[in-house]
Amino acid sequence: MTDLRTEYLGMPLRSPIVASSGPFTRDLDRLAELVDAGAAAVVLPSLFEEEIEHDATELDRLFADHADSFAEATSFFPELHGVGNPVDVYLSHIEASRARIDVPVIASLNGTNPGGWVRYARLLEDAGASAIELNLYAIAADPAISGARLESEQLELVADVTGEVQVPVAVKISPFYTSVANFVVALQEAGAAGVVMFNRFYLPDIDIETLEVVPRLALSNPGELRLPLRWIAIVRDQLHISVAGSTGVHAGEDVAKLLLAGADVAMTTSSVLRNGTGHLARIEDDLVTWMAEHDYESVSQMRGAMRRDATPDPAAYERANYIGTLSTYTSRFLGRSEAPV
Ligand SMILES: Cc1cc2nc3c(=O)[nH]c(=O)nc-3n(C[C@H](O)[C@H](O)[C@H](O)COP(=O)(O)O)c2cc1C
Repeated sequence: MTDLRTEYLGMPLRSPIVASSGPFTRDLDRLAELVDAGAAAVVLPSLFEEEIEHDATELDRLFADHADSFAEATSFFPELHGVGNPVDVYLSHIEASRARIDVPVIASLNGTNPGGWVRYARLLEDAGASAIELNLYAIAADPAISGARLESEQLELVADVTGEVQVPVAVKISPFYTSVANFVVALQEAGAAGVVMFNRFYLPDIDIETLEVVPRLALSNPGELRLPLRWIAIVRDQLHISVAGSTGVHAGEDVAKLLLAGADVAMTTSSVLRNGTGHLARIEDDLVTWMAEHDYESVSQMRGAMRRDATPDPAAYERANYIGTLSTYTSRFLGRSEAPV
C-alpha cells in the first residue's frame, strides 16, 4: 500500500495533492467534489483588498449621490451591504467550507496596504481558516521604487502578519525576483511557515483592431512546471519550512517531479479547470502507479531525492545546463528543415 501522507504548514495531509486558489474553490459544491476526488487541502480564492476598497468606495459614492435626494437615502447602505460585502461573503465562505469538507481550508489574502493585510488576516483566522496564504501579487512598474525596497516592504508585511495570527502563514510568490533563493530564505526568517512557488501572472494583450488593452487568461501547460521545479530543487536545502509547487501540475508524473525536487505538496488549478474536478483522482492514481513502478513506498521516501544538493550533478539546475541545452538543440536542428520541439 503506497503511503501518500505528507505534511504542509504543520498540518498532516493524506496526500500531497492540493487544490490551489481558483474559481472552483469559490463554490461549496465544487469544493466538496475536489475533496471527493482526493484534494488533501484546498486554497480559497484570494480576498483582494482593492476589491473591498472598491466596494466601500462604491457604497460611499452611491450614498453621497443620493444623500441629498431624499431622507430615506441611508437605507441604500444596509440594503447593499446585505447583498454581500466582499469581506462578509468571504468569511462566510470560510465558515461554510470548514463545515462542509474535512480537509484543511487555507484562506488567501492579497492586500494593498500594511494595515489591511494584518486586519484581514485576523478576520480570516477568526472565521476558522486552517492557514492563511498571502498572495504577493504586485507589478513593480514604478521606476522610482527599487527591487530592494519592494522586497523589504513585502518582508515587513509578512512579518507583521505572522506576528499577529496564530495559524500558519504561507507566502505565494511570483518567480520574478532577482534572487529567488535569497528572498525565500528571508520569508522564512520573517516567520512564514511555507512558501508557494509560484503564482502565475495574467498578461494583458493588445487588441489590434480596437486598440484596447485586453486581459487574457490562458491556463497553464505542463511545460511551465519546469520553473517551480528548478527553483524548488535549488532552494529546498536552505529551507526548513514547507514548500508547495504551483504552476504546470497537470498529471501524476508532475506531482512526482515536484516531490523529487523537494516540494511537500503539489498544487493545481488549471488541470481541474480544463478537465473537471474528477481529474484530481486521475492525478493521484497516476502518482501511485508511478511510485509503485519505481519502488517508492512513500512520499517521504521520494521527497527531495532529486533536490540540487542531493543530485550528483547540481550544476544541471544552473547555468551549465544552459550551454548543454543550447548545443544539443543546435546539433539536432542542423540538417533539419523544422525546429525540433
Ligand atoms: C481563473 C483563475 C483564478 C485564480 N485566482 C487566484 C486567486 O484568487 N488567488 C491566487 O493566489 N491565485 C489564483 N489563481 C492562480 C492559481 O492558484 C495558480 O497559482 C496558477 O493558476 C498556477 O497553477 P496552475 O498551473 O495549476 O493553473 C487563479 C488561477 C486561475 C486560472
